[in-house]
Amino acid sequence: MTHQTDPLPDLADLLRFYAEAGVDDAIGEEPVDRFAETAAQPAPAPARRPETAARQEAAAPPPPTLPALAVPDEAQAAKAREMAREARTLDELREMLERFDGCNLKLTAKQTAFSDGNPQAPLMLVGEAPGRDEDIAGRPFVGRSGQLLDRMLSAIGIARADGAYIANVIPWRPPGNRTPTPLETEICRPFIERQIELANPKVLVTLGGPSAKVLLHATDGVLKLRGKWRTHVTASGVEIPTMPTLHPAYLLRNPAHKKLAWRDFLEVAAKLDAVSG
Ligand code: URA
Repeated sequence: MTHQTDPLPDLADLLRFYAEAGVDDAIGEEPVDRFAETAAQPAPAPARRPETAARQEAAAPPPPTLPALAVPDEAQAAKAREMAREARTLDELREMLERFDGCNLKLTAKQTAFSDGNPQAPLMLVGEAPGRDEDIAGRPFVGRSGQLLDRMLSAIGIARADGAYIANVIPWRPPGNRTPTPLETEICRPFIERQIELANPKVLVTLGGPSAKVLLHATDGVLKLRGKWRTHVTASGVEIPTMPTLHPAYLLRNPAHKKLAWRDFLEVAAKLDAVSG
């Protein structure tokens, strides 16, 4: 009897499978051959008499120190709150974020995707976190969701370059696009709140559930929140009318819900007309 062997998977199919599963990024610049590392390990030393081992240990150099890991904890969240308050301009805030070492997400992100569009625009939109394309470009919403967002904006007569200012709650791409942890979000919260305060838009739009939850302190799901005006209150007490709506990535997966987002965007257009007199 002959056994049929499975054909080798096509390498391109395999890579596509990895990319769809979120494994789309090499963490290091150079590949590391872990097998070679193991093979190169010295053979285990023969067992020594306890007193010899103790003497050797005393003389041994201290173990090498690993690079400091930005473990997210309450101390880092407090540091973020203090730093963000000190930024007097959006440029200062961006520089601060680029220096901030209190969020582990920065270790794996290629760059800080701080903002895009026009910081003087009356409309600001805030998403959740950068994906792969945004991480590479260093700007929010440049991938497929960003292209849909641009089409949604242009449907109400707004061009991103001059009519909208765009940011994310989290400015660093979580590895493999995983959901940011609550602590990572808490660490980033003061920065996005300050970014909104400094941009001082007339109207704010939250894109997706996580952004609505953070900026409106809401607990309901986005399908319940969307379409109703809420208020984002800045640290200095400025009240900004805010429209929670569906995330463009969600709309790409659920095109039947585009009509809901369209209604929300019409509301936004009407509010922008009203506030600009
Ligand atoms: N999704 C987001 O929430 N933000 C981006 O910048 C891109 C995709």
